[in-house]
Amino acid sequence: MINITETVLRDAHQSLIATRMKTEDMVPILEAMDQVGYHSLEVWGGATFDACLRFLNEDPWERLRTIRQHVKNTKLQMLLRGQNLLGYKHYSDDVVVEFVRKSIKNGIDIIRVFDALNDLRNIEAVLKATKEADGHAQVAIAYTTSPIHTIEYYLQLVKEIEAMGADSICIKDMAGILKPYDAFRLVKEIKAMSKLPLQLHTHYTSGVASMTYIKAIEAGVDVVDCAISPMSLGTSQPPTEPLVATLEDTPYATGLSLEKLNRVAEHFRPLKERYFEEGLMDPKVLGVDANTLVYQVPGGMLSNLISQLKAQNKLDKFDEVLAEVPRVRGELGYPPLVTPLSQMVGTQAVFNIILGERYKMVPKEIKAYVKGEYGRPAAPIDEAIKSKIIGEEAVMEDRPADYIPPQLILLKSEMKEFLEQEEDVLSYALFPQVAGEYFKFRRAKKYSIDSGLVDMAQKTYPV
Ligand code: CO
Repeated sequence: MINITETVLRDAHQSLIATRMKTEDMVPILEAMDQVGYHSLEVWGGATFDACLRFLNEDPWERLRTIRQHVKNTKLQMLLRGQNLLGYKHYSDDVVVEFVRKSIKNGIDIIRVFDALNDLRNIEAVLKATKEADGHAQVAIAYTTSPIHTIEYYLQLVKEIEAMGADSICIKDMAGILKPYDAFRLVKEIKAMSKLPLQLHTHYTSGVASMTYIKAIEAGVDVVDCAISPMSLGTSQPPTEPLVATLEDTPYATGLSLEKLNRVAEHFRPLKERYFEEGLMDPKVLGVDANTLVYQVPGGMLSNLISQLKAQNKLDKFDEVLAEVPRVRGELGYPPLVTPLSQMVGTQAVFNIILGERYKMVPKEIKAYVKGEYGRPAAPIDEAIKSKIIGEEAVMEDRPADYIPPQLILLKSEMKEFLEQEEDVLSYALFPQVAGEYFKFRRAKKYSIDSGLVDMAQKTYPV
């Protein structure tokens, strides 16, 4: 039997409409979704936290509690970027532990945690805190291809993940580059070695994803991530219903009812129309991006390169930059081309070509990366390039978060005037500016409602 995680409330809208789905658009369908029998609903984490505060004027914690209130039977799942949590830098261990605790307390069952470099030291703290709070810790492996990302590399990672005490493993293919027969071999080997449940996450970007799922299922994968049809395909996940129908009457049957799924789809179909009308959804994200397969770089990275070159009036250098990308990536130890590494490698490749001298100019993020501040890459960084970038400066050998002192008490005192719930300090820790703006908005709204009530009361009972 194959289980399905439904991503429409997190990754699907993050991938298709820049994470702009509002809680009010989710609530009416939550109870029906809870009746479907999914393995889990991915509802939180990733970019949803930032988007709630920054664009939707919503409290992400309130969203989580609301979802939990309506979803009583199905496990709720979130995505965490290791020591970066949901932000863009490493946080101290006390912030990490508190964040995990509060996520579980507010309703999360399964925490999927990954590190962009697959440096497992960056997920230790999350994993430990998840177990301590009785959550399910799923460790995700960032999937990429390179001469060193062999089956043996992945098996070694699985061994280490198992030894850390993970509850399950996920192969996380954020770029949609895992091809069906590669998936078959990888899943087969992992399942032969590890007893842990294995889940597969991919994106439809390059058009192979549903085929990849079938081969992974035949090889023994336990759970796959799908999105209900109106919010599937393109840069999102493979659609749920066709997979359920395909597996019916086979040993892999999901047991999910197409009628119940159709009710869910009927809720999201008009929403999708609205997203088109509002310009939130660009039809371009729904196509097949075969370039991803040809160049082995994620679709989003190609469009970034084009816009960077356009801005410099150097679009004629596109082919050279494209050839420079794998060279830079190799010299930097083959980081997976995922956020933020894809942007960093891309920018360095553009600099190298348009300045006519390699590593003449180096973005500060690349410097920090070479110094070990992101963690340890899968392969060593080229020595000559390293000394060109940071000279004799020391490289951090320990776990990066070991250098970060506790932050929680300080953060609490910085924002105490806005504190309305214990979770607020965590929002502030991750996005100080954005959370600060939101707290002001929240206060203003509260006072306006309160004074509205006072007005009403005064009209009713003149004093
Ligand atoms: Co994803």
